[in-house]
Amino acid sequence: MANNIAVVGAQWGDEGKGKIIDILSRDADYVVRYQGGNNAGHTVVVGNEEIILHLVPSGILHKGKICIIGNGVVIDPEALLAEIDYLKQKKISVNGNLLISEEAHLIFPYHKVLDKLREEKFRKTKIGTTGKGIGPCYTDKFSRCGIRVADLYNRKLFREKLECNMEEKNAIFQKVYGYNKFSFDSIYRDYIRFAARIKPLVVNCSVVINEAIRKKKKVLFEGAQGTLLDIDHGTYPFVTSSNSTSGGACVGTGVGPTRIDKVIGVVKAYTTRVGEGPFPTEFTSRLMKNIRSRGKEFGATTGRPRRCGWFDTVGVRHAVNVNGLDGIVVTKLDVLDKMPMLKVCVAYSYRGKTYTSYPADLEVLWKAKPVYEELPGWESDTSGIKEFSKLPKNARGYIRRLEKLVGARVEMISIGSERNQTLFI
Ligand code: IMP
Repeated sequence: MANNIAVVGAQWGDEGKGKIIDILSRDADYVVRYQGGNNAGHTVVVGNEEIILHLVPSGILHKGKICIIGNGVVIDPEALLAEIDYLKQKKISVNGNLLISEEAHLIFPYHKVLDKLREEKFRKTKIGTTGKGIGPCYTDKFSRCGIRVADLYNRKLFREKLECNMEEKNAIFQKVYGYNKFSFDSIYRDYIRFAARIKPLVVNCSVVINEAIRKKKKVLFEGAQGTLLDIDHGTYPFVTSSNSTSGGACVGTGVGPTRIDKVIGVVKAYTTRVGEGPFPTEFTSRLMKNIRSRGKEFGATTGRPRRCGWFDTVGVRHAVNVNGLDGIVVTKLDVLDKMPMLKVCVAYSYRGKTYTSYPADLEVLWKAKPVYEELPGWESDTSGIKEFSKLPKNARGYIRRLEKLVGARVEMISIGSERNQTLFI
């Protein structure tokens, strides 16, 4: 039995992890986010209500679960407090069951502005970020001038670090971007106020989780974004700035790899991507419109339309490797219900060479032609089906073929946004 499970996105994010984590949370005691920030948008449908979470782990929707925002996450405290207030409005309590790591780095207003200014100024290399300040905050973390949650409670140190950061940043803002200076006083005051509100939630995340594991509690590690957006293993530089793969669960929470028993990857039955970057199996416009509207493919954080395409087994095989996936969950199978024929990409072809493993060369990724296998569609409604064996033959055939091509077992299939529209295999 797997006590401690990591759930990761195995494509470019938005695979439907929110719903899957919500379901797996029922059996977990702790649910922990380990990377990213409020660039993520996890949508969970409970009854008639759609709840979108950006920073707080989806486990919060179940009573009695301890939810932790790990040290690998970058926290915009203003966004966190707004999310806590939003949850309270929805009568979801976070008192006593939401904790945040004292080692997590903080997003400041200058990170958010810099994120947007960079994208505007350097249009040619634009990444299409969410504009939430994620990249600039991780940049500060790795250049060792970042400010962590713990620093807020040492006033002298916080003041010094903020002063030093702002001196450097204000010079860059003025000289490179012609942007007005930020006021130290107003940022300092705001962050001291935020610090007071979040203080009861602050813990040593590693100690809390390791103690829980020793007591045989079940921990669910909740990945955000997806494998192909991982800073090391994704389509660099069109990626996010953190390790969204399973390795991130260890460094982003302070738990050793020997403590994680199982890794599950979530994939959509097709592929989507938000933002810029190569996408070999992207649809042409007619199919794009069709699947985007059937699958409601619009970003949960920015509302941007998602780019859609055929299932890409080259990308998911890569995800199976870099995450060590034990099993996969296929979501949104019902979105394909009306398709008479489906294509699955089995390799890329470029300049006479066939690529079956993920190429690092961006030119190949931009220009390669996908090698497709065609499978018959099932052309019937699957959204009310309760058992895998009751799915149309061609739908089962599609799932079995994906399993074979990616090299991992499908354990769960989602056929709608409701919790009960889930098939367990
Ligand atoms: P950033 O994380 O805001 O820096 O954005 C970098 C890239 O990751 C952009 O292409 C974003 O659209 C993408 N991205 C970030 N978060 C998500 C997410 O939760 N789902 C899907 N794409 C995301």
